[in-house]
Amino acid sequence: MALLKTVSFCFAILVVLLLTPLQIASACYTSIYAFGDSLSDAGNYIHIYQQMFPGTHKLPRYASPPYGETYFHHPTGRTSDGRTIIDFMAEYYGLPLIPPYIRGVNQSSSNFGAGINFAVVGAPALDVGFYEERRIHFTTSNISMRTQLSWFKGVLPSLCRSSSCRELFNSSLIVMGPFGGNDYGHSFLQGRSLEETKTLVPLVINAISISIQELINLGVKNIMVPGMLPDGCLPISLTMFKGYKKEDYDRITGCLIWLNDFSKYHNELLQAELTRIRQRHRNAVVMYANYYDALMQLYLSPEQYGFGGEPLTACCGAGGIPYNYDSDAVCGDPPSRACAQPSLYISWDGAHCTEAAYRFITKSLLEGPYTAPHINSSCSLITEESGYSSAATATTR
Ligand SMILES: *[C@@H]1O[C@H](CO)[C@@H](O)[C@H](O)[C@H]1NC(C)=O
Ligand SMILES: *[C@@H]1O[C@H](CO)[C@@H](O)[C@H](O)[C@H]1NC(C)=O
Ligand SMILES: *[C@@H]1O[C@H](CO)[C@@H](O)[C@H](O)[C@H]1NC(C)=O
Ligand SMILES: *[C@@H]1O[C@H](CO)[C@@H](O)[C@H](O)[C@H]1NC(C)=O
Repeated sequence: MALLKTVSFCFAILVVLLLTPLQIASACYTSIYAFGDSLSDAGNYIHIYQQMFPGTHKLPRYASPPYGETYFHHPTGRTSDGRTIIDFMAEYYGLPLIPPYIRGVNQSSSNFGAGINFAVVGAPALDVGFYEERRIHFTTSNISMRTQLSWFKGVLPSLCRSSSCRELFNSSLIVMGPFGGNDYGHSFLQGRSLEETKTLVPLVINAISISIQELINLGVKNIMVPGMLPDGCLPISLTMFKGYKKEDYDRITGCLIWLNDFSKYHNELLQAELTRIRQRHRNAVVMYANYYDALMQLYLSPEQYGFGGEPLTACCGAGGIPYNYDSDAVCGDPPSRACAQPSLYISWDGAHCTEAAYRFITKSLLEGPYTAPHINSSCSLITEESGYSSAATATTR
């Protein structure tokens, strides 16, 4: 009986910890503009899909339950059971959830007051045409990073109508990525070798660099550039690239070593490029967001952070063994179903995280040491410039 009480007491503490919202840092960013892929999409893809294939009855699986079940209680087009990193960032800075660009085009521009989310499921850094020439096929959509940037340029005149763009950008946060996961993923999944796929990395980094510098030339001041996640820990990777040697797997985490090394290689090149951009553009704050190590904390010590389930197993799936990932029956398609407690899992559907893991990453980025230069320093620049007293920048709970 006493044991049972202790157990439920511990459980109560755990629930409180998990449900505690992130602190709200007020008087910092007043809007967020996000570019990216399925990690950040808040509904663009499911609307694009309807436009690309009008009259189709089958919607993408992200438009089906159980997607969205934990927070929204209905699918929103997000690839998670609830909120994403962009959503948690918006909450942290006291903003409403950032609306997707595509849904917003039919609405008045005032809905874009707190920013716009341009991210689209499946978006590569390089244009789809580049891959078609190399016979790597993108069937999801033809929206790339470049398309998203052109959308942004298209809305700027209306965004800056009531003020100057400079004023807008002084207190805006741009989140540029992560990009690259779809470039490399399509190459690997369509049978290209590690060597061949590796040659894409400098091209991807160059494309990201060009986009960042284009944004800076438009007047953007605060840019966060996330690196790739440890893709070798995803149930989809562990299933599709099953290794036959014990040495293929990390002894502590069970993740695929070569694929995590690939993510790290991308991240190293990206950080070196960001250093060059900072030297060239001293008027902008270019922050690296270390998504890799922020999430790796969970794979290294899942229990410590309340992710007691199986860290490498997807919460939602149709029972593929052993990672609950089956490419023929994925989350959202019958007969898949979600686990009872998504918050104990890192992976939601095998390719994307649960909202619990996304909350953890966001907290690590904004409060921990996983942004460089730290995002707090960019916030304090804004609050000083706009004349807030230091009391106004104190966080409220
Ligand atoms: C936007 O409006 C047009 C014209 O009214 C309509 O055809 C289209 O389906 C709408 N798009 C979305 C995403 O709602
Ligand atoms: C994507 O494809 C649609 C037709 O399916 C086309 O109208 C559009 O221009 C293409 N966009 C890009 C960026 O290639
Ligand atoms: C934007 O910030 C710069 C300093 O970085 C400042 O000189 C300028 O006045 C600010 N502009 C507006 C419109 O707030
Ligand atoms: C950044 O600010 C947040 C809240 O304002 C605080 O909790 C955190 O400790 C700060 N982090 C660093 C590294 O300064």
